[in-house]
Amino acid sequence: MRPTPTSRALILGARSQIAQALAHQFAAKGVALVLAARQSEQLAPIAADLRLRYDVDVDLLEFDALDLDSHVALADRVRQEAGPWELAICVVGSLPDQQLARQDGHIAQQVLATNFTSVCVCLGHLANDLEARREGGLICVSSVSGDRGRQSNYIYGAAKGGLSVFLQGLRNRLAPAGVHVLTVKPGFVDTPMTQGLEGLFLVASPEAVAADVLIAWRKGRNVLYTPWFWRWILLIIRLIPESIFKRLSL
Ligand SMILES: NC(=O)c1ccc[n+]([C@@H]2O[C@H](COP(=O)([O-])OP(=O)(O)OC[C@H]3O[C@@H](n4cnc5c(N)ncnc54)[C@H](OP(=O)(O)O)[C@@H]3O)[C@@H](O)[C@H]2O)c1
Repeated sequence: MRPTPTSRALILGARSQIAQALAHQFAAKGVALVLAARQSEQLAPIAADLRLRYDVDVDLLEFDALDLDSHVALADRVRQEAGPWELAICVVGSLPDQQLARQDGHIAQQVLATNFTSVCVCLGHLANDLEARREGGLICVSSVSGDRGRQSNYIYGAAKGGLSVFLQGLRNRLAPAGVHVLTVKPGFVDTPMTQGLEGLFLVASPEAVAADVLIAWRKGRNVLYTPWFWRWILLIIRLIPESIFKRLSL
């Protein structure tokens, strides 16, 4: 199913470098943008640059994913403050030190709330709006980390795994209404989130990931592993029997 054309896209978590690379990709195709983030006023220079380069409308919207009550009115707020929209792109996420999260339940709770609960609640409300209008779609950045739990990051991985299942269900629910859902599963990406982490390999640029997302969206793909080879790496990882996997140091 190819998605309906997009005139305006809402980007949630717009300060992320992956989000900004996506903003360039979509603006270059003439899509107006709403950049939603905490302290969104700091994105004013980025919005100005996008307007100048691509001659599209770019609005800023204050958005805190953890403020669950605010999500009910989000779809209407975007319409009132910017105009009609058809696509929401969620890039919100956080990756605190897993060792700290193992010791401190509040940090673990924050990882789960930011990567899973808040995103599900927010996308759920946006989905209701799109389903009623029978147009548009959702793109959400999950992670390959959600495909199998590993000792080094299973708390973040559990949140992303749950998110991927949520998106799968949402896709199933929204398909009859012609609303498309794309799940994006990047491998390692060169952003502030991964700075200083050890053991990174095959690290992609945010620009390469964003280019893959645009192509996948236009082709109506359901799940995107980006770069492409992560699909096959994760296939192998998922096939390792649990009796062997539990002894590996991953
Ligand atoms: N980098 C990787 O290797 C990698 C791999 C797989 C998946 N991902 C996923 O890709 C997405 C983007 O990550 P990134 O690498 O670009 O890292 P990032 O720069 O840390 O981006 C995460 C974004 O989420 C936003 N965010 C966090 N909590 C929020 C909240 N309560 N309300 C609103 N926004 C909130 C952050 O906003 P602030 O700027 O306000 O903190 C930040 O802009 C994330 O979902 C991440 O899990 C990344």
